Order: sequence, then structure tokens, then C-alpha cells
Amino acid sequence: MRTFFETHIEKKRLPIPVALHREIRKTALRLPELDVTGRAWSKKNYPKGYTSYGSLSELHRHFTVFERLGNALDREVRAYASGLGFESKKERLALTSLWVNLMPEGCYHAFHHHPHSVVSGTYYVDVPRGSSPLRIEDPRAPLFMASPMRRIQEDLVPRAGEVILFESWLKHEVPPNRMKGLRISVSFNYELDRSSSR
Ligand SMILES: [Fe+2]
Repeated sequence: MRTFFETHIEKKRLPIPVALHREIRKTALRLPELDVTGRAWSKKNYPKGYTSYGSLSELHRHFTVFERLGNALDREVRAYASGLGFESKKERLALTSLWVNLMPEGCYHAFHHHPHSVVSGTYYVDVPRGSSPLRIEDPRAPLFMASPMRRIQEDLVPRAGEVILFESWLKHEVPPNRMKGLRISVSFNYELDRSSSR
């Protein structure tokens, strides 16, 4: 038997200094007080939690600490993309958005994908034991029709300091956080850098 059309997920420790990791946490925790628009946006769209997705979604352009995170992510995304056979000299991927997510108990993010991007992912800053996994769904799920029942979702349990990368069309969610501790993460998108192909 041969296998085709695999779905590749990268999950690994991101090699960054501990001091940078701490600085990311500190800055992430300060964002809500600076970001009035984001607080209002989160109230409507991100129950019980805070995300800078609707307000400060290009944090790597505004904060050195996130720019440094972006540089570390660039290396991982480049390796991931070349493993998928994507990156050529003409077409490179560029970090286009990067935002913070603070998920207290009860906060969740329903199934979605990132339609305008190529590679998406999340860097995990704090993951209290037992807090939400990242749940992914088999992209073939809508097409199974009369096929016998099978498992169509998988949970990835991230650890603090890890990064998870996936192709942006992959449906994913963060089910409700059932733990009291705050789950802190930084999510991001990479798109084709059209300027590099000229
Ligand atoms: Fe997402």
C-alpha cells in the first residue's frame, strides 16, 4: 500500500533564549492594558479572553521582542516549507501577522482556518497542565460521505517553549480551557512574499 496527500504538522521546541521567552510573556501580559481596541474586539469575538488579532495583528513590526520571535520563527518556517517542497528562490514566505492570545478558564476558539496564508502556527508561552490542546481536523472530513465512521480529529498537546506549524488550510480549534491557569500563546501567519519573485 502507498500513501498520498499526507498532512504534515511540525511540533518542536523553538530554540530561543530563556530571557526572550520571559520577555515575550511579560509583553503579552501587558498588552491588554495598552490595547483598548483589542479589549473591545475580544469581548465580542473571543469569549472571556484577550487576543490582539483584531487590533495589533502585526506585533513583530511594533515590538522588538516579537521581531526577535519572528526571526526565530522564520528559520523554522523555512525548514518546514522546504520539507513540503514549497520554497524556491523565486517564492519565499514572509511573516505577515503575529498576535497574542490570552486564554483564561472558559475561553475557546472555534474551528477555523487561515484562508490568505500558506503556513500558520503558534508559539506557546505558558500552557498550564491540563489546559486546552490544539485540535486539528482531517481535511478530507467533508468528503467521507458513506465511508465508515473514523476518527477525524486529533489533539496536539503543546508545551511551553514549543512551536506548532501547519498549512493554513488545516482546520483547527482551541476547545474551552478547563483549567484556572492562563494559557498564553502567540500565533502567526506566513504568506507568499510576492515582492521576492520580481
Ligand atoms: Fe487559528
